[in-house]
Amino acid sequence: MFIEKEIQMAAYLFASILFILSLGGLSSQESAKRGVMFGIVGMIVAIIATVLGKGVEGQVYIISAIAIASVIGLMLARKVEMTAMPQLVAILHSFVGLAAVLVGFGSYLDPHTHSLTGAAHTIHLVEVFVGIFIGAITFTGSIIAWGKLDGKVPSKPWSFKGLQTMNLVLLIVCTILGVLYCGAEGTSGMLYLGIMTAIASFIGVVLVMAIGGGDMPVVVSMLNSYSGWAAAAAGFMLGNDLLIVTGALVGSSGAILSMHMCHAMNRSFFSVIFASGSGNGSGGEKKAIEGEVTALNHEEVAGLLKDARSVVIVPGYGMAVAKAQYPIYDMVQFLRKAGKNVRFAIHPVAGRLPGHMNVLLAEANVPYDIVMEMDEINDDMPDTDVVMVIGANDVVNPSAQDDPASSIYGMPVIEAWKAEKVIIMKRSMSAGYSGEDNPLFYKPNSEMLYGDAKDSVEKILGFLKG
Ligand code: TAP
Repeated sequence: MFIEKEIQMAAYLFASILFILSLGGLSSQESAKRGVMFGIVGMIVAIIATVLGKGVEGQVYIISAIAIASVIGLMLARKVEMTAMPQLVAILHSFVGLAAVLVGFGSYLDPHTHSLTGAAHTIHLVEVFVGIFIGAITFTGSIIAWGKLDGKVPSKPWSFKGLQTMNLVLLIVCTILGVLYCGAEGTSGMLYLGIMTAIASFIGVVLVMAIGGGDMPVVVSMLNSYSGWAAAAAGFMLGNDLLIVTGALVGSSGAILSMHMCHAMNRSFFSVIFASGSGNGSGGEKKAIEGEVTALNHEEVAGLLKDARSVVIVPGYGMAVAKAQYPIYDMVQFLRKAGKNVRFAIHPVAGRLPGHMNVLLAEANVPYDIVMEMDEINDDMPDTDVVMVIGANDVVNPSAQDDPASSIYGMPVIEAWKAEKVIIMKRSMSAGYSGEDNPLFYKPNSEMLYGDAKDSVEKILGFLKG
């Protein structure tokens, strides 16, 4: 069964509108679920309209493959922990990149491509070349990003002198290969295409390897953007308007998100995407950390909270790992009933994905009006009695402000050390995701409370109530 071209076009238009509404919905927490629903319906419409399009062969195989893949996707999505979402997103981006590469090779080998003549032939060859180039970078870059986020590849930046020059030379080589490939007869440009794919795959690896843990948020959203452009390129190769529109939507929204993140982290957009050294660190000698580490027990922390008038909670990745948001909110409710001013301070890249902390706190029903952004609350730090840093590390690291040799130097941070007392709740003295040690732990007004965040908060609550 096939549908008419006009009906397919109308369905594509409808799906495009749903995708735009979906992106709009995702811009706020209240409308996010609705946004996701628009996206799902749009994708179902798009798939049905494509599979039933005139000239599509092997519909049974296509539908079977979609059904099997949907079951795998559903199982994976149900199983994945919130803390592992960024890895999942990264590996999904790699699939888009791989798809663009495969579509590119398929399109080049398709006899229809070589039946084209003149400008139409050249334009199609360029589409194939560019699509494979972006796809290959997205494919390998996303695999490295997955490895870094999953702890399989070290999160520290791996770079060397001359990396930029090497990337530039490789880009020039790819351009020359592109010219040779466009001039080749029939499918004899396959060799050039193959060499370019290998080079682009290598560029994807080194680009992401050179980026340190602190800058990974930007990389994940950049790869999201690349995957969109790869999909748009595949759309051109296949002559599918909806794929072009959808790819462009993902590509441009990912690029805008990356720019916002760079701004929030005080990073230069171009230095991150071209991996011109991770972060702003000068690479010189790091400042020696001075001071001594002191620790408290749960009862003592409860005592400090009882005496405090204002409390700020800074959650981080460790809160997500421990799933501590529920007891934290119980504790917050208890303290607020006792007349204390308790608020949350959220760093834009706390956790492992944009809005990670906001989503977790919303899940525990924490009201939005006590969840403050870093910029809103930093000025209040000197008037705060107690800051509880719960499973956070990089986002409260003072080296970002005073150690030019640190890889996170220049990144805005929550100035927890300006409060009267800082309690840092984590399991050990280990470094944050960026691999940088944290001088905050050694400050005279800081106290460590070792242990799992959830367990610690439950014990503190016990002492508060007792
Ligand atoms: P991190 O710097 O990763 O520090 C989290 C801390 O939580 C760790 O030092 C760890 O110390 C502690 N922890 C882990 N499990 C715990 C548990 N069960 N109970 C208590 N503590 C626990 O986190 P952050 O401060 O949220 O900073 C986020 C970092 O990730 C930044 O560098 C950011 O650039 C990067 N990143 C962010 C994103 C996005 S978009 N948000 C994406 C990728 C990467 P112990 O092991 O000692 O307990």
